[in-house]
Amino acid sequence: MREADVIIVGSGLAALMVAYHLCEHKNVIIFTKSNKETSNSWLAQGGVAAAIHPDDHWLTHYTDTIIAGCEHNDEEAVRILVQEGREVIQQFMNLGFSFDVDEHGQLLFGQEGAHRMRRILHAGGDATGKNMVSFLFEKLSSRVTFIENDPVIDLLVSDGRCVGVQTKNGTYTANAIVIATGGIGQLYTFTSNAETATGDGIAMAYRAGAAVADMEFVQFHPTMLYVDGKAVGLISEAVRGEGAILLTDDGRRVMDGVHPQKDLAPRDVVSRAIEREMKNGHFVFLDISMIPHFSSRFPTITSLCERYQVDWRNGFLPVVPGAHFLMGGIVVNVDGETTLPGLYAVGEAACTGVHGANRLASNSLLEALVFSRRVAFHLLNKTEQRLMLKKSERKENNVHIALPTKEDIQHIMTQYVGIVRDYDQLFYAKQWFEQYSIDELVNMSPEYDDEERTIIYMLIVGWLVTTSALQRRESRGAHYRSDEPFERTYWEKRRIVRTKEEHLM
Ligand code: SIN
Repeated sequence: MREADVIIVGSGLAALMVAYHLCEHKNVIIFTKSNKETSNSWLAQGGVAAAIHPDDHWLTHYTDTIIAGCEHNDEEAVRILVQEGREVIQQFMNLGFSFDVDEHGQLLFGQEGAHRMRRILHAGGDATGKNMVSFLFEKLSSRVTFIENDPVIDLLVSDGRCVGVQTKNGTYTANAIVIATGGIGQLYTFTSNAETATGDGIAMAYRAGAAVADMEFVQFHPTMLYVDGKAVGLISEAVRGEGAILLTDDGRRVMDGVHPQKDLAPRDVVSRAIEREMKNGHFVFLDISMIPHFSSRFPTITSLCERYQVDWRNGFLPVVPGAHFLMGGIVVNVDGETTLPGLYAVGEAACTGVHGANRLASNSLLEALVFSRRVAFHLLNKTEQRLMLKKSERKENNVHIALPTKEDIQHIMTQYVGIVRDYDQLFYAKQWFEQYSIDELVNMSPEYDDEERTIIYMLIVGWLVTTSALQRRESRGAHYRSDEPFERTYWEKRRIVRTKEEHLM
């Protein structure tokens, strides 16, 4: 058994920022189930939203965030995000990070949907996440041990406290465990997310006893590049911010008459409009012909097109919506504390409530920077007594449940718990999940191989999304029900919080 002061699970921007702030003072181990380059942060194209332009104000950013979130946001978390965000971005630049600038050295600000002004900082054109993650790797001190390809398979709980992790290759204890495993996009057939985004961290936290909330709010990004019936990568909203428009194969503008902000309407509105066209048998294209110097402004998207032999020079990119971001996750306060002592969460896996029912574009990298710093400062100011690890309180796994495939889960989530849902679809999906004895899966030790364990965690998360979506009998933000198409007063500010108590048998 090995010990550390802090264990971080995940290797995206939020994980690295926690490690960066701690590493001069604490021994930190970071585990990732894959490698350094595999995370949603690494894939983030658009940039980081921050109210730092002289004409901007944190209050405008605050209001844009709340409007996009359909007022479901935690207002204190939003205030922290937009106010501390300005300071954190400044610190990041002081550390030596370069956002893109014009020929006079002035910061360039991009535009994205539902922002009232240009406030998106970007780096390497459309390689913002990759540049930020690579930059932070260089800054971590030798007190951080980085363990790749060793998945955390369970959280260790003793006397009601999280005291460590079980990985594939060993047992590790620490004063604090931080979940930073990102989102759940891989539960859907089409997604912008990394192949590792299967919701493991959320499922593990839930199984360990931490509360989760807002699981019904899954954001679909309107524009994945669509090749041979597959979504092969993201086309940033920043492309529409530079003037690109959505057209059907018969030349109509998709967003005409749909929303006053047209192609830069909130993502749920644009995704539903595209899905409607596709269900009516049309293909949808992003017309980029008006964007000058497309390949230098968007080099990542250009090379994605070239990799899949899509001729971006002809000005039309075929697109389809895909699962992009989970607004819900493990319930945390603004210092990242979950409801399980010793366990913290940050980034997309966490739910501070900052994004409400629909995240504003480019607020996710900002969230990672702001709240990871708060988690780190909280841990630096706290003296925790290390508790001993006792024998596992979990039931031994003596039942073997026949499991579905990943593709089966993706099919159910996409068809029945997708961009548009209704009662019948959700009820069908709930029953489908429950044939796999979710209660058993929540309680038993996960003594399965890697593939099976991933499926178990996907089943738990899929069931949480489905049952929360069934419970919320209204439409709000990214949760759209065709049988309940309006917001309802009863559901205002109400959060669906789930704990494993409901599985106690
Ligand atoms: C994008 O570049 O369109 C994605 C950015 C985000 O989700 O914030």
